[in-house]
Order: sequence, then C-alpha cells, then structure tokens
Amino acid sequence: MTPDQIVHTFVEHFQRRGHRSAPESSLIPPPDDPVLFTTSGMHPLTPYLAGRPHPSGRCLVNVQRCLRTTDLDEVGDRTHLTVFDMLGTWSLGDYGIERSIRWGHELLTDGFGVDPGRLHATVFGGDDQVGPDQTALATWTDLGVPVELNREENWWSNGPTGPCGPDSEIFVWTGDGPPTGTPGGDDRWTEVWNHVRMCYHRHDDGRLEPLPQPNIDTGMGVERLEMVLRGGRSVFEGDGLTPWVDAVRDRWRLDETSYRIVCDHLRSAVVVLGDGVRPSNTGQGYVLRRLVRRALTTLWRDDPSRTLADLPVEPYAATVRRFRQRGDVGPLRQVLADEERRFLGLLRRGRPVVDRRRSRGPLTDADYAWLHDTHGLPRDLVDGPLGEAG
Ligand code: ALA
Repeated sequence: MTPDQIVHTFVEHFQRRGHRSAPESSLIPPPDDPVLFTTSGMHPLTPYLAGRPHPSGRCLVNVQRCLRTTDLDEVGDRTHLTVFDMLGTWSLGDYGIERSIRWGHELLTDGFGVDPGRLHATVFGGDDQVGPDQTALATWTDLGVPVELNREENWWSNGPTGPCGPDSEIFVWTGDGPPTGTPGGDDRWTEVWNHVRMCYHRHDDGRLEPLPQPNIDTGMGVERLEMVLRGGRSVFEGDGLTPWVDAVRDRWRLDETSYRIVCDHLRSAVVVLGDGVRPSNTGQGYVLRRLVRRALTTLWRDDPSRTLADLPVEPYAATVRRFRQRGDVGPLRQVLADEERRFLGLLRRGRPVVDRRRSRGPLTDADYAWLHDTHGLPRDLVDGPLGEAG
C-alpha cells in the first residue's frame, strides 16, 4: 500500500464507525503553548481532551504531521524519523479502550492484511498510583494476541505535566521466520500503533487528577506502517523517503546511517520551513538550524565540497506535497542555500581557532566542548576536513 492508500483505508475505517475528520494543524503550536512543535495528533486537541466540546463531535479521526526532536539521536536506525505523519483517532469521553483495541485489531488484520499471528501487545501493568489496565489486558487476551506488561513504557504523556494515561502499544513481528520473544526483549518487534487511555492530568507537583471525561487517544505513524506492510527493511524504503534517498545516493557515497540522517534531516527541514519557521539561534528556528547543520556535517565529514545546490528539486516538491503544504519550493531552497553559506562561513572563521588550540597539543574533550559551544564547530568537522573549508 502507498501512504495515500494507507491514510484513505484508515480514515474510511473510522468514518464508517462514526468518526468525523478533525482538521490538521501546522507543526507550530499556538504562541502560548509550552511545546515548540506539534509532537502528536493529540497535541492540538488538548483543550478537548480536558472537556471542551469539539465542533466535530466526540469521535474524531485525522492525519497530522508531527516533529519529535526527542528522536533526533535515534535517526539512522530502521524506524525513526524526526518528521512523520501520524494517523490518529479520538474518543472524547465516548467509547472506551476495549472498543478502540477491537477496532484497531480489525483494521490491522482485515483492513491492512497483517497476519494476526504476527501481533504482540504491551499493556500498562500498574504502578503505585494507578492499577494495571485490566480491560486492555482482557481484550487482547480475548483476541488471542500475546501481552507483555510494563510500567513506564506503557504510560503516555505529552510532557512532564498535562493530559496523560496508561497506553497499550501494538507491535508487528518484522523478523525473518516465526515470531519469537517479546517487544521488550527483541527489537524485531516493531511498534506501529499506540492506544492511550487519556484520562488523567498531571500537575506540576506530580499529582494525578482524573480528567473530567475519560478519553481514548491513538496514534500510528504512516511511514512505519508502510514499512511493515511492504515487508521493507526500513522506513527509508517508503514512498515518502525514496525521492530523498534516490537523490542523495545518486550524488554522494555515504554509509547507510549517514544516508538516513541526511535524508531525514533535509526532509524535516523542508516541512518545518513549509510551516513558516526560519533558521535562528533560539526556539523553533534553532531546531531547524540544528537539522540543517547535522545534515551538512554528515555530508562534509568526508567531502566538504558537497553542496545542497546539487540536489534536484524533486525531493523538495514531493515533500511539500506529501505533507499537504502549499507554495513554491524555490524560496525554501534559497533559505537552505543561505543557511549552508552561513555554516560554511562559521567553519572558515573557526579554522584558525582550531589551529591555535591544536598548536598547544592534542584536543581534549573540554576543547571539543568549547569549540562546539562557543564557536558552533561540530567535533566531526574539527576532526575531519575543517581545515579544507578554508
Ligand atoms: N498520543 C499517542 C502517541 O503519540 C497516541 O503515541
């Protein structure tokens, strides 16, 4: 299935079960929001989870672009992306976890054709404040899906305070041969979908208060589901990433992890730019700058003559389309070209600084930290071709 078919199948499944489409938000939350980016489909719905009536009713479905900086260091593995599309469903005080799990199981097996024998669930096993999620456990068991019980891994929150609750994660076996082990012990179990009983609010002092209504909040990454349904080795083989992987591979020789970092970060930078952010030294602009500089650092480690200007327009245009953004990609590419020039200038100015430090002996960890924090010089480039940047 293509990403479009996946989105269509998902939305239709839930529309037929009484869900109405909720509008997608930008990656940029409202100005008074403490979080820099929209990290999950539930994020724009926070007031409605707390009890405000939603204009589209109590059962919602949508697809929402999300950015997770917490996953920045994970990018390079099979499954993590900084920007991705999340399919979401919500019961705002309507149905409970049993129905959510049963509809989810039905969609995965009948709608998407996943072999039920390749599913595994994890469920909240209880802690000193909240008991085990017996309903989720009983529902999975009734469906014949094995369950692993956890504590922290099965408690979902969008931050240290705010709406939160126990969750039930669904994993699909993506290893060769028959499934073995459990999600906690074998990473060939790939997490695809998370069903959260969003029914608490956590206060500053750590106290949990029940929300005015018990909600269900679910989220499933399109790129990851696409990988699982294709039997692919990584999310980088999917439709959304292929334009980047092809363009980068055609031009530059990199190891697998580096390809993934460059493709993920450039694609994410385009989406962040598309939602109106511009590079800066603070806030959202700083995250954008970090994405671009990490991509360039990875490219320049082996060859500082590489330039984003050599990339064709296709991956940019495909990304803007994929994330339902509008506008011409020309100005976005110009911002990236300016940012590349700025970073190159910084490296040139850094060269004599590095030379002076080196003349006093081998660089220590403290030197690297100082070069990075004070002069913006990444260790990979200090050790590599920084001199050639001059
Ligand atoms: N909000 C939940 C998540 O992002 C569904 O995993």
